Amino acid sequence: EKIIAKAFSSSANLGAGFDILAMAHDAFYDSVEITSQPSSSLQVYVEGEGVPNIPEQNSASFALIKLLEEFNIKAKLKVKVNKGIPPGLGMGSSGASSSAAVVAANELFKLELSNDDLVKFSMLGEIAASGSPHPDNVAASVVGGVVAVVSSEPVRVVQIPVNLPFSLILFIPKVNIEAKTKKAREMVPKHVELQKLVKNSRYLSSLLIGLIKGDRELVRTGLNDDIVEKAREPLFPYYSKLKEVALNHNAIGACVSGAGPTIAVFVDEKSDKAQIIKDGLKICESYGYECSVKEAKI
Ligand code: HSE
Repeated sequence: EKIIAKAFSSSANLGAGFDILAMAHDAFYDSVEITSQPSSSLQVYVEGEGVPNIPEQNSASFALIKLLEEFNIKAKLKVKVNKGIPPGLGMGSSGASSSAAVVAANELFKLELSNDDLVKFSMLGEIAASGSPHPDNVAASVVGGVVAVVSSEPVRVVQIPVNLPFSLILFIPKVNIEAKTKKAREMVPKHVELQKLVKNSRYLSSLLIGLIKGDRELVRTGLNDDIVEKAREPLFPYYSKLKEVALNHNAIGACVSGAGPTIAVFVDEKSDKAQIIKDGLKICESYGYECSVKEAKI
């Protein structure tokens, strides 16, 4: 038996929503094909261009193994991962592979898992990729749209009803950073001052209410983060200048996509997209980063 599932790229955090918010978009997608044969034990083989072929090191097969062990399923599985999402650039590449694998297995073995359970198993794939099971990217890839992880134990995710028409311009630096998410997570402070937390919580409230009410000014205010984006700034030194220029050309707002270095600029019909792209690319270049641009929708 054979089954294929695909999962879209995503931008996690969205300003102050570190490990809470994420948004799926159609910039890129991964697909995972699982071929199953009867067997008296669980055997998982993984292949794909540019992906680790040791099952425990690959986010797709790692999540799959955990899922099948939990349900005591015995089979010989060949997992083929087709990467469309460039890895290490903050667009949920590892999470999309594990989500696609878990969604495929859910169908193949008729497990009828809820979205929350699909996220719970998919996020285990992030351990293989970055050492930590953060749920935000996989939540977006599984559920679609803008999602909030409202509980981690047990995992609960909610899709946010978005009433603001917008699209994205992604500035994607051409860099290759090994184990980037792991390093980026080590840069996040363990403790924060209450005043900073309050300010960030205000941003988060503003973003959520803005998206739900369709209020672009609230979204603009909400797309800020004084804690995690600040701590990680050395990973994307062009970000604050790029954001300033994008806002001057009437972007709705901008944020770091996941742990970066990709930057997501939110635009609508009031924004001067051509100028944002032109000036944005110049800024990245002036910091020594050659970028490509990808427009995307949620
Ligand atoms: N929320 C995670 C982080 C996303 O910022 O580390 C990583 O892709």
